[in-house]
Amino acid sequence: MTDQTTPTPQTTQTTQTTQTTPTTPTTQPAESRHPFSPEMKECPYPHYEAWRSEAPLVWSDEVGAWLVTSYPVAKGILDDNQRFSSKNSVFGGPQVEHPEFPSMINRDEPDHRKLRALVSKAFTPRTIEGAWEPRINEYIQELLGAVEQRGDGRLEVVGDLAYPLPVQMIAEIIGIPPSMHAQFKHWSNLIVQDIGRVPEHGYESLEEVAEAVGEQAPPRTQQERTPEEMRAEFEEYARRVQAGEEEPSLFMYFYMQIFDRQQNPRDDLMTRLVEAEVDGEHLTNNELVAFLVLLLVAGNETTTNLISHALRKLSQDLELQRQVRADRSLIRPLMEEALRWESPIQGFYRRALEDVEVEGVHVKEGDALLILYGAANHDPEKFEAPEEFRLDRFAAQTGSRDHLAFGYGIHFCLGANLARLEAGRAIEGVLDRWSEFTAITPQDEIEWWDTPFFRGPIAFEIALKQ
Ligand code: HEM
Repeated sequence: MTDQTTPTPQTTQTTQTTQTTPTTPTTQPAESRHPFSPEMKECPYPHYEAWRSEAPLVWSDEVGAWLVTSYPVAKGILDDNQRFSSKNSVFGGPQVEHPEFPSMINRDEPDHRKLRALVSKAFTPRTIEGAWEPRINEYIQELLGAVEQRGDGRLEVVGDLAYPLPVQMIAEIIGIPPSMHAQFKHWSNLIVQDIGRVPEHGYESLEEVAEAVGEQAPPRTQQERTPEEMRAEFEEYARRVQAGEEEPSLFMYFYMQIFDRQQNPRDDLMTRLVEAEVDGEHLTNNELVAFLVLLLVAGNETTTNLISHALRKLSQDLELQRQVRADRSLIRPLMEEALRWESPIQGFYRRALEDVEVEGVHVKEGDALLILYGAANHDPEKFEAPEEFRLDRFAAQTGSRDHLAFGYGIHFCLGANLARLEAGRAIEGVLDRWSEFTAITPQDEIEWWDTPFFRGPIAFEIALKQ
């Protein structure tokens, strides 16, 4: 397989017929172009292939965006943040021009650089992967020990391991007290379920995210309040929640926790985020809350899906399992291939900031593009026989991991190594504890999460051999 250089969209002209955004569809597309339909959930790859065979990007009336399925085009757009904005990427939707959610994933430069620099001060490899590795291992053993004790010889990969692990870990890393963990998981679920939903096209502001998860709008003006006023407001709010007069709110809860860390710093991520400073600047309260919400969304279902996909594959392909069992250094390339093969996030949006010619396709200023990482990772121009799961694609020695499952460019996933650590240890934990495991759930009976951007099974059972 040969590697390709990444052409930037404007320079890669091909013989493709020029397309422009149709205002009214002139011909009925042969193939539905709904990227989040139930058929897509079953198996999106033949649909991606059909769209790619028409052009590297095709227009979808269903979501009102270009669907980008080609690897070099997807990578080129992700790399070109000057002409392709992220303001509609996750919290927002294809048509949203100015989402107010102050989350770095939805910001362009220079705001993004400032937010990422501040957050990176607190979210370092030493404070996250280094500090949390023992606890991650311990919690995996707790989860697998409970399965062993149950004694039914089965592991429901998602419910028993892949789902609780990342959400519990991020709750502990952030510094959420144990009494709130169940509530925290519930909030996390509610948000992930609704992100990017069509036709609502996601959210336009922090208030809309809050409303969608059944909460009151967050207090936007907290920056201007005195600590005394905030304390009085939080006390009154806590009283109302305790009296059952008000639903607990994730946003209010995060504001209260931030306020608490500002008054009483301690050794946790939230305190480090509050204290982070670059060039005399700190994160505002709204930016802090937005980042904490992003951690929930970006880090939970994604890692869950990676673990589920990898263990599903191992349980279906016993030769592969034997290979990895015999040589644990193969866990790393296994994970990278699982990320390519079934990308946990199938796509996020971008928006063109000017007219751009992309591979002979005329993308107009303001047009939305859905960058389908899952499709790019199955582009045969980049990955030979993309439907095949091959351990040697991302050989451990070369360290090559040029799939797009963690994105590319300035928004490249901040939690990639934490995800790899959790997933790697989870896979190893299952291999260590049982001498063999095999799939119980038939492939064609898998039910998939009904969420627009994310791809993963709701449940998957495997049989365990001591
Ligand atoms: C297998 C698991 C994961 C996958 C597949 C994944 C995927 C991605 C992708 C594709 C992006 C790029 C978004 C874009 O270009 O618009 C991204 C960004 C991000 N991810 Fe992850 N992610 C995973 C786990 C995590 C974890 C565990 C965390 C943190 C706890 C995390 C935090 C973030 C953050 C903060 C960003 C935004 C970075 C920026 O805008 O500069 N992710 N992730």
